Amino acid sequence: MNIKTDYENLKIKPFHTEETASTNDDAKSIALNGALVIADRQTGGKGRLGREFVSEKGGVYMSLFLDTETYDDTLFITSAAAVAASRAIDELSGKSSLIKWVNDVYLFGKKVCGILAEGVIENGKIKSAVLGIGVNLVKTVDFSGELKEKAGFIFETGDFNALREKFIDLFLREFLRLFFGGEKEEIYKAYKKKNYLSGKTVTFFENGRELSGKAEDIDRDTALLVNCDGEIHRLVFGEVNIKL
Ligand code: BTN
Repeated sequence: MNIKTDYENLKIKPFHTEETASTNDDAKSIALNGALVIADRQTGGKGRLGREFVSEKGGVYMSLFLDTETYDDTLFITSAAAVAASRAIDELSGKSSLIKWVNDVYLFGKKVCGILAEGVIENGKIKSAVLGIGVNLVKTVDFSGELKEKAGFIFETGDFNALREKFIDLFLREFLRLFFGGEKEEIYKAYKKKNYLSGKTVTFFENGRELSGKAEDIDRDTALLVNCDGEIHRLVFGEVNIKL
């Protein structure tokens, strides 16, 4: 693999493996600032909320280890990553992807990318973070069951190795620029513009109760604003489902 390592804000240290359980776990064990673990497939890919992330060949599975101690605000890692991933997908494919709050990227109504950021906490402080990203790049398998309805691929066919290298470079360039540059305003504006949920009716759980409302907007902290019968609910984390 030909991975570019010199970026303005960070020197990338790539580790490529054919198969591993989870690149997030590998990056955590390596624990080197700028370590980027890339796997061709994962046997125990992790999604948000304890879910499995199906990781067959044809996808990009990678995790970046970041020493975050010196940055004041690490909370926008995932929104910076969602914007960077969506922009990289657009540039690579010539299509327009959208971001489904909180950090999935959708293309033509199907999820093509998921992001899992994990904080590494020492003595009660976030010392470092692992940013994991999974992209369904080139179709190699037919998803079955629920995944078939929900998940898609960016390309039906294509030169996987070339596309993967290009995606990784586009993503890293944009993510590092947004994150290290502290470009919160730009992230907010891009996220708002790419909001897949805008105007859609969604359901979510609040204090054990299922609520339903219209997703209206994204605020400056990339919280989702949902109008439930005239009352605005501000969702900071968690998940919403689209009501069909
Ligand atoms: C989600 O959709 O809920 C998040 C998916 C994140 C998947 C990526 S693939 C690379 C990294 N390693 C993992 O085990 N998970 C992340």
